[in-house]
Amino acid sequence: MHVQMHRFLPLLFFFSWPLIFLRDNHPPVHHASDLHPIVLLPGHTCSQLRAQLTYEYDETSAAPSCGARKGKGWFRLWENYTALQDPALVPCYAEQLRLVFDPVAGDYRNVKGVDTRVVSFGTTSGFGSDDPAQKNHCMRKLVGALKGVGYKEGQNLFGAPYDFRYAPAPLGQDARQFSYFVSSLRVLIERATETNGNKPVILVTHSYGGLTAMNFLNENALWWRERYIKHFIMVSTGAGGIVAPLRNLASGISYCQSSRVDVLSFKNTSRSFASVFSALPSPKVFGNTPLVITQAKNYSAYDIPEFLAAIGFSADEVARYKTRALPVTLNFRAPGVPMTCINGVGVPTVEKLVYRYGSLHSEPEVVYGDGDGAVNMVSIQALDTVIGDDPDQDYYKSVLIPNATHAGILSDAFAVDRVVSEILEASRAIY
Ligand SMILES: *[C@@H]1O[C@H](CO)[C@@H](O)[C@H](O)[C@H]1NC(C)=O
Ligand SMILES: *[C@@H]1O[C@H](CO)[C@@H](O)[C@H](O)[C@H]1NC(C)=O
Ligand SMILES: *[C@@H]1O[C@H](CO)[C@@H](O)[C@H](O)[C@H]1NC(C)=O
Ligand SMILES: *[C@@H]1O[C@H](CO)[C@@H](O)[C@H](O)[C@H]1NC(C)=O
Repeated sequence: MHVQMHRFLPLLFFFSWPLIFLRDNHPPVHHASDLHPIVLLPGHTCSQLRAQLTYEYDETSAAPSCGARKGKGWFRLWENYTALQDPALVPCYAEQLRLVFDPVAGDYRNVKGVDTRVVSFGTTSGFGSDDPAQKNHCMRKLVGALKGVGYKEGQNLFGAPYDFRYAPAPLGQDARQFSYFVSSLRVLIERATETNGNKPVILVTHSYGGLTAMNFLNENALWWRERYIKHFIMVSTGAGGIVAPLRNLASGISYCQSSRVDVLSFKNTSRSFASVFSALPSPKVFGNTPLVITQAKNYSAYDIPEFLAAIGFSADEVARYKTRALPVTLNFRAPGVPMTCINGVGVPTVEKLVYRYGSLHSEPEVVYGDGDGAVNMVSIQALDTVIGDDPDQDYYKSVLIPNATHAGILSDAFAVDRVVSEILEASRAIY
């Protein structure tokens, strides 16, 4: 079956009626034994990390006080909202979150003397931060809505937080952290299936979690995917990256913008992450369209190496984009398991950056286009060709939700209801 809802946009309004009806009454509670287990992968920076400083930690690298916790056990590194209120601690957290690329190992690792772990793998309790202003961020509303229809944490609802600083690498290159995540998630999914009457899992992801899941699926054999994955529901992820990070990289701010002090905005913190290049526009999807326009030169998705060099990335970093990140981006392909892609549309989205006068470090004029406020329409539509048109992809459905923003799709009731109804539909479906 091949359903492409976007070609019939008016249908969305029709389908939204029954949902409004359900919301005004009591939502049906399903028996846990009827439901397929769910594993959730949240967006970039939604997972929590804890760290400990070993005696190898060099406290002179940032500020002398940064070594205060040396040898004193585990503490919350990301996102430690309390610590980030203290301007004296922010440089320490920026330094301790940084990654370094080890040319001998051919892989990324933590700064020497910093050990890190993802908080609460297997559960959704480690999603989001302790910042009271962000209590509805990440997947928390979705988790609440799923519990409302009968899902139970630890029984048929599981979370797969991941260290968002790391990224997968192409075949033949080491990405130890990502490989470790792949094997942990494989075990989690197998156990979820086995403890739920051998019902395969519905994988539900948001944003960067979708890219993570795609690469996870690619690293598992087809027989494994067919046995353990009932359905893959990918929310807010396009097939070819997004334009917005180009601006953030140029000005040195991170993806997640907010008014408070942002530890990731330290240039050499977010810039050091293996994942910094993962969501850049794919030449396969954005083609020759100029995305960054300057007086001297225009940059399309093909010119990202030149663009990165122009904004101050070293030759080694540019080489890693070309040989490590770009091949993974180009390898985005149909996962071969039943899939529903859900995206917001109709929200102004950064499409082009025009640096009319100054350097690439000045504030650009932004040309907006359609999308969800982060993911561009062209990247959303490419899902139909890259996944939908792949002859090996049996079931593919694209759902577009007008006026749902990149984050709002998992926090605004009208959109969350739609996401939950797609999950329940997938749970009932017989292919
Ligand atoms: C947050 O950071 C502060 C300062 O480093 C530390 O004292 C505190 O224990 C951390 N919070 C958690 C939950 O680990
Ligand atoms: C990080 O940035 C600071 C100030 O911008 C600079 O002095 C330091 O050398 C940088 N560290 C690395 C490892 O690039
Ligand atoms: C860059 O692109 C703009 C708009 O697409 C075009 O008008 C301009 O001539 C191009 N400039 C260069 C240097 O190619
Ligand atoms: C989307 O939002 C705009 C502006 O608020 C509004 O005019 C429009 O009716 C909305 N569309 C839908 C489908 O809700």
